[in-house]
Amino acid sequence: MNVLVTAGPTREAIDPVRYVSNRSSGKMGYAIAAAAAARGHAVCLVSGPVCLEPPAGVAFVPVVSADDMLAAVGAQFGACDALVMAAAVADFRPRAVSPVKLKKAAGLRPLELEATPDILAAVAARKGTRFVAGFAAETGPVMLAEARRKLRDKNLDLIVANDVSEPGAGFEVDTNRVTFVDAAGEEALPLMSKAAVADRLVRRIEAELARRAP
Ligand code: PMT
Repeated sequence: MNVLVTAGPTREAIDPVRYVSNRSSGKMGYAIAAAAAARGHAVCLVSGPVCLEPPAGVAFVPVVSADDMLAAVGAQFGACDALVMAAAVADFRPRAVSPVKLKKAAGLRPLELEATPDILAAVAARKGTRFVAGFAAETGPVMLAEARRKLRDKNLDLIVANDVSEPGAGFEVDTNRVTFVDAAGEEALPLMSKAAVADRLVRRIEAELARRAP
C-alpha cells in the first residue's frame, strides 16, 4: 500500500527570528514511516523541522509551517491508501508575521493568535476508501473522551491516544504508551518502544484494509 505519514512539529513564525512551536521530536512519526517501509509499503514522509534522518527508502517532504504541511499532505493524499498523522501541528499561529525582527526595546506586546488549518479534518472530509488515522496528544483522565471526540469530529478510522504527561510517553522519548481507539472500541497497549508501537499500528492498518478489500 501507499502510506503517507506526517511527523514532527510545525513552526509558526512571529518574525524572522522567533516562532511558536511545540516539543515534538519526530520520533513517533519517523518510527511509523520506518515500520511501514520495513513491511514493504511505499512511504511518503512529510515532516516538520526535526533532527532526525529520514528512514531509508522513504520519499521525504520537509515542511515548516502548518500551511506548508497542509499543502504537502493535500498534494500527496490522492495517491495514498493510508494516512497517519503523527505530526504535532501547532494549533495556533501569530495573526500577523513581522517582516523585521521585533525589537526588545519596544517592550512586551501581547501576541495575537489565530487557529491554524486542521489538516487532518480537511483531508479526511474527502477520504473515500482511504484509511485515515490521527494521534491524540492529551494529558490526564480526559484522554479517551477527547480521543473519541477527535475520532468523530475529524471523520477518522482510527485515533492513537497518548497521555503526553505520563513518564516514558509522548514527546521526545523513545517509548510510548498508546491506546488505539476506533468505532468498535479501544485497545490499550503497554509501554513499549516507539518502533514497536509503529509496527503494531502498521499491521493494524494492513489488516483493516485487507478486511475491506472486495
Ligand atoms: O514527535 P515525538 O517527540 O515522538 O512525540 C510524539 C507525539 C506526542 C507528537 C505523537 O505521539 C502525537 O501525539 N502526535 C499528535 C500531536 C497532536 O497534535 O495531537 P492533537 O490531539 O493536538 O491533534 C489531533 C490530530 O489532529 C493529530 O493527528 C494532529 O496531527 C492533527 N492536527 C492537529 C491540529 C491541526 N491544526 N491540524 C491537524 O491535522
